[in-house]
Amino acid sequence: MPIKVMIVDDVKETRDNVRRLLALEDEIVVVGEAKDGEEAVQKVSKIKPDIILMDINMPVLDGLAATEQISVKFPNTSVIMMTVQGELEYIKHAMTVGARDYITKPFSSEDLITSIKKIYRLEYQKKLTPDSNKDSQIQPQTIVVFGTKGGVGKTTIAANLAVGLHQVTGKKVVLLDLDLQFGDVAAMLNIFPKQTISQLVQENELIDEALVQSYLLPHSPTGISVLPAPARPQYADLITNQHVERIIRSLQKLFDYIVIDTPASFNENVLMALDLATRIKLVLTLDLPSIKNAKLCLEVLEGLGLKEKVRVILNNACEDYGLRAEDVERTLGMPVLCELPPSSKVVTGAVNRGTPFITLNPSSKIAEQVCQLAKSVSKKSKATAPARKKTGLLAGLLHIR
Ligand SMILES: Nc1ncnc2c1ncn2[C@@H]1O[C@H](COP(=O)(O)OP(=O)(O)OP(=O)(O)O)[C@@H](O)[C@H]1O
Ligand SMILES: [Mg+2]
Repeated sequence: MPIKVMIVDDVKETRDNVRRLLALEDEIVVVGEAKDGEEAVQKVSKIKPDIILMDINMPVLDGLAATEQISVKFPNTSVIMMTVQGELEYIKHAMTVGARDYITKPFSSEDLITSIKKIYRLEYQKKLTPDSNKDSQIQPQTIVVFGTKGGVGKTTIAANLAVGLHQVTGKKVVLLDLDLQFGDVAAMLNIFPKQTISQLVQENELIDEALVQSYLLPHSPTGISVLPAPARPQYADLITNQHVERIIRSLQKLFDYIVIDTPASFNENVLMALDLATRIKLVLTLDLPSIKNAKLCLEVLEGLGLKEKVRVILNNACEDYGLRAEDVERTLGMPVLCELPPSSKVVTGAVNRGTPFITLNPSSKIAEQVCQLAKSVSKKSKATAPARKKTGLLAGLLHIR
């Protein structure tokens, strides 16, 4: 396809000259002319040229004002200014309003053609290259809710955060239960699954987006999807970290947010999830064993190069317990991202009804806090790149196979 060029100059002789200079070039075709900036702006929408050769001083609307309008309204059209010697200030101005290049009159056929082809090629490449900024915005967020102490509220937070993310963003959210022996997600959402992750992994090599999708349970009261843990603890052994990798990678293609609940220990499956995570929410409570555990957990995560992804959530946080968030921050050397208050009535009431408190009791303090947490997750436009895989290191650190 030839490059479509439009010539804008108030002097007919110049327009004719430029036309002549371009006539011998097969790859370029002149598709229109305009005698001032206003006529140029009007014609661009109909003609859709790739390149405009634009004079600067013209009546009605000058070349600078026209370039500004065209670069805003028609991003697929690039402007090359045609200037005369000594118009340096104009050239600078032209570049700031969106011109892509300039050629100084009088120019040769070669100057003109080289500039047109160069700009066209650059623009073409830009369209082919994915916008890295855009990419990072659409990159799915994988949030692992973790903590090496049992009963600190990981499942409670994971379930409510998943629903909160769907409420706040309206986007597709899945909750994956990786607490493979004693996963509570299904119970917490009042789901009675016929199929769980243990049946999915039997398909082994066949695990892909379509297969994973067919094992997901839509949770209609909240709008999220769920992949529950096995129905019985003994089935947990069927699931390997390769299965977990395939499943998470498939979910990342299907969903905007993947929230993963985990058991209170490091194992190969949890490690795979931590590796693939964009964020790790480390949950702890305001008691010494929990803080000590969190500190050890952070040290391991640091050794694995995963500490950057960690954000601390303090659950059941109440100053009456003799410790404060600041004590935790000092011990961990890391700020507390969010504090959730003790709310037995709201939390247990919701669990016993099989409905997350964020839906059942949205005006409660704890629901508001989780909602804020979901907002902070959703505002993060740039996802942290998943870290390098270091399963061997973890195995070494923890003396596990
Ligand atoms: N902020 C809170 N206020 C009151 N009770 C809470 C709060 N958060 C969690 N709980 C209660 O604490 C108990 C443990 O919560 P949860 O099951 O979410 O923890 P967990 O970290 O997932 O535990 P496990 O390690 O066994 O998986 C539950 O009974 C839950 O209802
Ligand atoms: Mg749990």
